[in-house]
Amino acid sequence: MNNVTVVNHPLVQHKLTLMRNKDTSTASFRRLLREISLLLCYEVTRDLEVEDVEIETPITEMQSPKLKGKKLVFASILRAGNGLLEGMLDLVPSARVAHIGLYRDHETLEAIEYYFKAPSDIADRLVIVVDPMLATANSAIAAVDRFKRRGANNLRFQCLLAAPEGLKRFTEAHPDVPVYTASIDSHLNEHGYIVPGLGDAGDRMYGTR
Ligand code: PRP
Ligand code: URA
Repeated sequence: MNNVTVVNHPLVQHKLTLMRNKDTSTASFRRLLREISLLLCYEVTRDLEVEDVEIETPITEMQSPKLKGKKLVFASILRAGNGLLEGMLDLVPSARVAHIGLYRDHETLEAIEYYFKAPSDIADRLVIVVDPMLATANSAIAAVDRFKRRGANNLRFQCLLAAPEGLKRFTEAHPDVPVYTASIDSHLNEHGYIVPGLGDAGDRMYGTR
């Protein structure tokens, strides 16, 4: 599929297997999500532009690369997006942060918005939207719609698991937004859950249910 990158690094795949296991504790699930987000962040930011700046090492002067342009925005889809966000902020502590609160109506699977807060100059920045799960893609499509209405024009979507049905819908709705995922799973079940998946990411992160 165009514009979709599957991050199949052995460390990512190993940690993902541990996360999928239903016997993994809430504490371990959260820790693994944070660790995996560092590795995914490395991939989603791989082609960021750099520019040489003049610095002085203890030995000599040199030209050395630094990130170019305005700081990134990490945009978390609440709740579960925060699990990816925290690890990404460990790696890029100066990034700006946006939050969009969305939950799936369990009957219709529509995404219902309950919160939105984003930097005002989002139009000038690369916005990386994060959510571990891309199932029907209703949440991801609604989130990207919302950030585009706010002015964002340079976006990427980072998740952990994607269903083929959701990936197809998302890339059709937003062909300009590259997707990064650790796995494309088999399919969605009749309740809109990813199979084999890892269950409800928010519930597993926070021990709710
Ligand atoms: C989960 C997940 C995504 C959404 C994916 O959130 O974190 O946001 O479902 O499903 P979709 O692709 O079919 O929209 P949920 O609605 O369970 O909310 P939560 O994070 O607050 O638990
Ligand atoms: N949301 C989740 O948390 N898990 C799924 O499998 C689908 C949507």
